[in-house]
Amino acid sequence: MTVYDAIQLAQQTLSNKRFVHTSCVALQAARLAGKYGESVSDAELAAYLHDILKEAPDDVLLQILQGSDIIDLDDIKRCPAVWHAFAGGEYADKVLGVDKKIADAIRYHSTGRYGMARFEMLIYLADYTSADRTFDGAEQVRKIAETSLEDAMLAALVNQISHIVSKNGFLDLNSVRAYDYMIGLKEENEKTDL
Ligand SMILES: [Fe+2]
Ligand SMILES: [Fe+2]
Repeated sequence: MTVYDAIQLAQQTLSNKRFVHTSCVALQAARLAGKYGESVSDAELAAYLHDILKEAPDDVLLQILQGSDIIDLDDIKRCPAVWHAFAGGEYADKVLGVDKKIADAIRYHSTGRYGMARFEMLIYLADYTSADRTFDGAEQVRKIAETSLEDAMLAALVNQISHIVSKNGFLDLNSVRAYDYMIGLKEENEKTDL
């Protein structure tokens, strides 16, 4: 699937408002990819597909998740806000036939995960810091993303997890383990800086 195919699919599938968001994410993903030496076309492809199932009904998402051999539904069943990401990754892999790198970036764009690749951080952050994002913390993470993907990823996870906890919401395990992973990376980097 080419970037052009992904743009057309996103335009046909998504509401206008969601397509505008997706386009903002693609612009930011391309910019960050250029800055951090990742493939710009892969970043655009993942970005145009990242929310491809965002507007699909919950029963469709659950059906896709139940058919997955990667996702443990027990881990995320209390967090419907992240279903579209995991189901979208599955759809991109099995139906659209994209590379694993692209499917994983879609799959983990809402939560992150332990051991996440830099490309996955880039797509997570492009979604968090795209021009249309105005929530608390978006500007702070946007600034940090100009100098370090890892620092920005940690700041975004801290914001996201704090926000969920402040509302007494359910935390999914991938987010918590992603936070642990980023803290571990930070410690390692600080040791090598000494
Ligand atoms: Fe999303
Ligand atoms: Fe998004």
